[in-house]
Amino acid sequence: MRLGIVIMAAGKGTRLKSKRAKVLHEIGGRPLVKHVIAAAAQVVPPNDIVVVVGHQAEAVQAAIRDTGVRFALQEEQRGTGHAIQAADQGTRDYDELIVLSGDVPLLRPETIVALRDFHLQEQAAMTILTAEPANPFGYGRVLRTPPGALDVAAIVEQKALQPEHQGLREINCGIYAFHREALFSHIGQLSADNMHHELYLTDMARILHDAGQRVMAIKAAQPEEVLGANTIAEMMRLDRELRIATAHRLMAAGVTILQPETVMIDSGVEVGADTVIEPFAQLLGETRIGSDCRIRSYSVIENSTIGDRVTVLQSCVIAESQIDNGARIGPLAHLRPGCHIGEDAHIGNFVEAKKTRLGKGSKANHLTYLGDAEIGAGVNIGAGTITCNYDGVGKYKTVIGDRVFIGSDSALVAPIVIGEGAYIGAGSTITKDVPADALAVARARQVTKEGWAKNRRAQREAMKAGAGKQ
Ligand code: UD1
Ligand code: CA
Repeated sequence: MRLGIVIMAAGKGTRLKSKRAKVLHEIGGRPLVKHVIAAAAQVVPPNDIVVVVGHQAEAVQAAIRDTGVRFALQEEQRGTGHAIQAADQGTRDYDELIVLSGDVPLLRPETIVALRDFHLQEQAAMTILTAEPANPFGYGRVLRTPPGALDVAAIVEQKALQPEHQGLREINCGIYAFHREALFSHIGQLSADNMHHELYLTDMARILHDAGQRVMAIKAAQPEEVLGANTIAEMMRLDRELRIATAHRLMAAGVTILQPETVMIDSGVEVGADTVIEPFAQLLGETRIGSDCRIRSYSVIENSTIGDRVTVLQSCVIAESQIDNGARIGPLAHLRPGCHIGEDAHIGNFVEAKKTRLGKGSKANHLTYLGDAEIGAGVNIGAGTITCNYDGVGKYKTVIGDRVFIGSDSALVAPIVIGEGAYIGAGSTITKDVPADALAVARARQVTKEGWAKNRRAQREAMKAGAGKQ
């Protein structure tokens, strides 16, 4: 038996009122369709998954190309039945097809497997995944005749419900298994004679049933996982459920998350045991955090890799960077893409860094900008140091050797190299390379006038006294 999975992802998602295709909207930091692909890829290899694209096809393909799935193009979007017609060519190698909707992102692989097994065991032509949620409004309803029968006679869309259907609570989840041959030998009978003038895949239930084929339904164990997302509000409800599930996955692995309902953790995030995440932290994208770290409140960490025993103090913004074991960041630090902070290094408050490597044990503790800098180990960057990496046209590099001491309020005008062990006097504007172990001072010499301030005060006192007499 050869099994393929088709994911319908060509629709516009009119009810979202968004310029962006529905399946590209994100929950848990990932496009809806990517969640569905991830579940499908647990059941068949990616090469046996065909994603039907149409509306904004190029953007959808670009977002999921890295998953290794195949594509079918539905140029005009004339309904879910029409979407499957578009997958005819691309699925001819399969005996059985599982059809998923690209907007049902909480679906678990176990549920797909249960649908497949039931479908094969019953040797059905079509098996529908159903659920009985508290509020079935908006979904297609499954019609069994007589009521309670095992076989399904039809699916009735919300807008076509007749008074006699009012009691139907079992919904169609938009997820099906088909015997491919039965599906494609009858799919030509779909008609657009309905409210939306579309070809409804759901009509296959009635068509196959009327043709004497076996149409079955299996109820999902957890109705929440098969709910679709047709509006932003519905999507944000799924987003919340997914993030709560992610927080629970991490807590089960030994992570402490304080007030987990306040943190925002994307599905792709991994965190090691004994790390503590404080309220209102955000861990986004493919962020990896090691063990025994503390991520304090209001810090936002995106697509970054953090080692063990790292402390990120309050209100830091960290993107596409690497932080090694034992380092301390913040509070109020900004690591822009391309930073690599070495073991036990410190980045303190109001420090901004971009594409900068800070070596082992080095410190930039206060009020500093480090851009395009390569800084060795054991370096001290004084408060208010600025790497002047941009001259209005190009970007240039600053290289600082091991054990260098940069005095406070220094400007290092790149391109520039400060040799190992050198000292830079506070308040210097350094424009020429400094050799190893040298001292460079580049500031106006100090002038000191003994007694000047005392004399001035005395003069002012005398003037005041004179004015008072008149
Ligand atoms: C569909 C079902 C409904 C079910 C619900 C479950 C139909 C007619 N109705 O309704 O019974 O309760 O799902 O969530 O199928 N798509 C295409 N091409 C198209 C149209 C849609 O690829 O021409 C894709 C969409 O991108 C989406 C999926 O098919 O991922 C479902 O389409 P949608 O319009 O959301 O169907 P519903 O109205 O939710
Ligand atoms: Ca839908």
